[in-house]
Amino acid sequence: MNEQSSGQTAPAAPGAAVSVDVPAKINPHLGVGGARADGYHELSTVYQAISLYDTVTVERRGEEGGGPGIELTLSGEGADLLPTGEDNLAVRAAKLMALYAEVEPDVRIHLNKRIPVAGGLAGGSADAAATLVACARLWRVEIGDAELRRLAAGLGSDVPFCLNGGTAVGSGRGEELRQVESGGTWHWVVATTETQISTPECYKEVDRLREDGIGRFSADVEPIVRAFEAGVGADVLAHLLVNDMEAAAVSLRPQLASLMHGGLEEGALAAHVSGSGPTVLFLASDVKHAVALARRLRMRGGARSIHLARGPVPGPAA
Ligand code: C5P
Repeated sequence: MNEQSSGQTAPAAPGAAVSVDVPAKINPHLGVGGARADGYHELSTVYQAISLYDTVTVERRGEEGGGPGIELTLSGEGADLLPTGEDNLAVRAAKLMALYAEVEPDVRIHLNKRIPVAGGLAGGSADAAATLVACARLWRVEIGDAELRRLAAGLGSDVPFCLNGGTAVGSGRGEELRQVESGGTWHWVVATTETQISTPECYKEVDRLREDGIGRFSADVEPIVRAFEAGVGADVLAHLLVNDMEAAAVSLRPQLASLMHGGLEEGALAAHVSGSGPTVLFLASDVKHAVALARRLRMRGGARSIHLARGPVPGPAA
């Protein structure tokens, strides 16, 4: 984090800015249970933060900058696809922190997007987590970890993990976390697609397939947790990846199957839909293999963009 402000107790002066880098997340294990009474699905998941980052900068507007209010600007690939008003989770995060701190929100938020937009990589949740952290620093809010996590959970199921980063088991609707000490680093090639899948749409498709007897709840995360703790090789990890939403994502967007198949043909150790998709993750044996695999996938075509990432990496509040 870069902090260009001074003073210890008063809110930073107008014009002061705080920048926070926040990583994307993947779910090497995503077990989806039945729908609960509140409409959410019970999850048994393992999250991991990977090295694709958005940068969130918050700056006090001051009178000459327009006075009270929240203003959001965006840059980076796909930024034009995102809302800039109340629908943007970063705006809601700034409002929530202002409410908690009992301060007038007077902030300009800038999101520099490098996490592929609408991809199943939790970019929106990551921006919300980083905005909470950045606004707390900007306004010098005294807030404990538990309170910060409670605010984060109110913004979305993935937001608490996005604060932490690293590797964690998620339960409940994804917001109850147990951090895992990881014994290694793994390398991924991340392939985004032209298509989009809304998260609720994908959960509904999981329910529909279950009614037809297709798929079941993969509740047991322990094998992959032990693998991460032990720092196993990627060849071992390849056999432990689970995504109960994969069949639903492929059912909604059948073209994902050929992308996944293509990556395996090019030598990926595993192909894994990221969250509710449509981004596809390819596991590589090491960084050299990842670079070669990315090059082959770019030449093959069929993806919107190809990125290299490693995980786990720390989150903004770690
Ligand atoms: O929590 P979040 O706002 O990110 O969730 C977006 C949507 O995804 C929810 O409104 C719900 O339809 C679905 N969801 C779910 N079960 C979860 C998490 C999300 O059904 N555990």
